[in-house]
Amino acid sequence: MRRGLAAGNWKMNGTAASLGEVEALKTAHTAPSVDILICPPATLLDRLSAVTHGSAIATGGQDCHPAKAGAHTGDIAAAMITDAGGTHVILGHSERRADHQETDAQVCAKAKAALEGGLIAVICLGESLDEREAGQTLDVIGSQLAGSLPDGLTGATAVIAYEPIWAIGTGKIPTIEQITEVHDFIRADLVARFGAEGEAIRVLYGGSVKPANAAEIFAVANVDGALVGGASLKAEDFSPIISALEAAKG
Ligand code: 13P
Repeated sequence: MRRGLAAGNWKMNGTAASLGEVEALKTAHTAPSVDILICPPATLLDRLSAVTHGSAIATGGQDCHPAKAGAHTGDIAAAMITDAGGTHVILGHSERRADHQETDAQVCAKAKAALEGGLIAVICLGESLDEREAGQTLDVIGSQLAGSLPDGLTGATAVIAYEPIWAIGTGKIPTIEQITEVHDFIRADLVARFGAEGEAIRVLYGGSVKPANAAEIFAVANVDGALVGGASLKAEDFSPIISALEAAKG
């Protein structure tokens, strides 16, 4: 049985003023039946981890460098995320693949560094609208899975997030049939590669998850939670999404 995971990706949003949102979440979800994760910008990770310390809310980074340390201006190593109280790291988000030309091979190298550093890697995949319309979705996802995932992943060390690029920040979501098709495909791929651990690795859906659509998305068998962008910034939006996940998977 996989435990649900409600993960918030704050992207390049949030300052000290945002910490109050997490205080509110902490108060609202003292003993959740699902896992809760928030990945703030790097500047807030230490302070946010202090706020969530001793609560049910985990924290994480939004990227890490493949190297352990060194001359890489502006980058962050896995050990720095741990040092700032984080336990997870988002890797290969489509915005990083687009903004920083990250390839599957680089995402794979980052995931190896994350695992060696003891972090849980949240590895993101997803097709563009052109690829969806050309009927290439499963081919694209298959090749991202093959290229971005290192060997030896387990349910305890990795999470996969399926985020169709055209659904991110647009208010558009795939049909439930489309979500089901891709999540079933990812599950089969994980089981073929990682055996029993492939059953244990959680697969999140991401892209315009809101309180209003969360329940129908979480009703899909191979959707184990969500990676939420905009709706994770405010407790009043993220809290009902967590509650919907508890109702479906808790
Ligand atoms: P939105 O929830 O804002 O569409 O963002 C999804 C996402 O990219 C999470 O990583």
